[in-house]
Amino acid sequence: MPTAALIDGKAFAEALRTRVGTAATAFAQNTGRRPGLAVVLVGEDAASQVYVGAKGKACAAAGMASIEHRLPAETSEAALLSLVERLNQDEAVDGILVQLPLPAHLDEQAIIAAINPDKDVDGFHVISAGRLAVGQPGFVPCTPLGCIMLLKDRLGDDLSGLDAVVIGRSNIVGKPMAQLLVDANATVTIAHSRTRDLPALVRRADIVVAAVGRAEMVQADWIKPGATVIDVGINRLPPEPGKEKGRLVGDVAFDEARQVAGAITPVPGGVGPMTIAVLLRNTLIAAHRHAGLPAPEGL
Ligand code: GUN
Repeated sequence: MPTAALIDGKAFAEALRTRVGTAATAFAQNTGRRPGLAVVLVGEDAASQVYVGAKGKACAAAGMASIEHRLPAETSEAALLSLVERLNQDEAVDGILVQLPLPAHLDEQAIIAAINPDKDVDGFHVISAGRLAVGQPGFVPCTPLGCIMLLKDRLGDDLSGLDAVVIGRSNIVGKPMAQLLVDANATVTIAHSRTRDLPALVRRADIVVAAVGRAEMVQADWIKPGATVIDVGINRLPPEPGKEKGRLVGDVAFDEARQVAGAITPVPGGVGPMTIAVLLRNTLIAAHRHAGLPAPEGL
């Protein structure tokens, strides 16, 4: 049985973080300050606390300043908007990230809209989405940007002639992913929960990006032999008897799909590590633009 090449997102992300770290050190020498990322966490969501902790550590390891604001769950919208405004004005802050999800009484769109788009290193602001749509320089959401980096590393920068299917139409992954694939000359279809005969559609694709959040939904017999499969899903299965925690799996039935695909990202160790590495990259680029310096090459 043929076995797909493993796309090692962990190794790629580590190399990217090293390049960002080198450029961040040079930035600090040139400007007398480190690139700064402000991370805002509201409430006690357990997963968000882990993510925010990981982002802070990654910043420090890359020679960047991490400015953390942990606010109580009952923080008012006015108070959060006023913090965002302070961070917009703060010269030491190059990037602002408000960790999602926010508590239900806060309007996520209103908070994201308050971030200065030039500091929107998450790429969630409508101005960032618009810039991506029309090809102006801006910030692209970290997960899809990480996916296109992995794809280009494997297939080259020009995806002309290749059919891509993106499964999932979220603003954070599916839609920007499709845009990045189109920009690289792929022919792109966005599939979603209302798509008819998804298996047949996926079977035509040279590139499959699965971002639906349903454990092992994409089956091996949906995959065209030799296709490149990028699995964005991170789903925890119910624990097996005697175990405390279930296994982490992606949106693709990995063991079986691996026998058909040409290359595939594992879960964990594929797309996941790319998200924080790209966040650091975006912050470094924001810092250069903020300081009026050209962005470093090769990131
Ligand atoms: N929650 C889960 N992932 C993310 C992310 O990439 N950015 C923000 N702001 N919140 C998240």
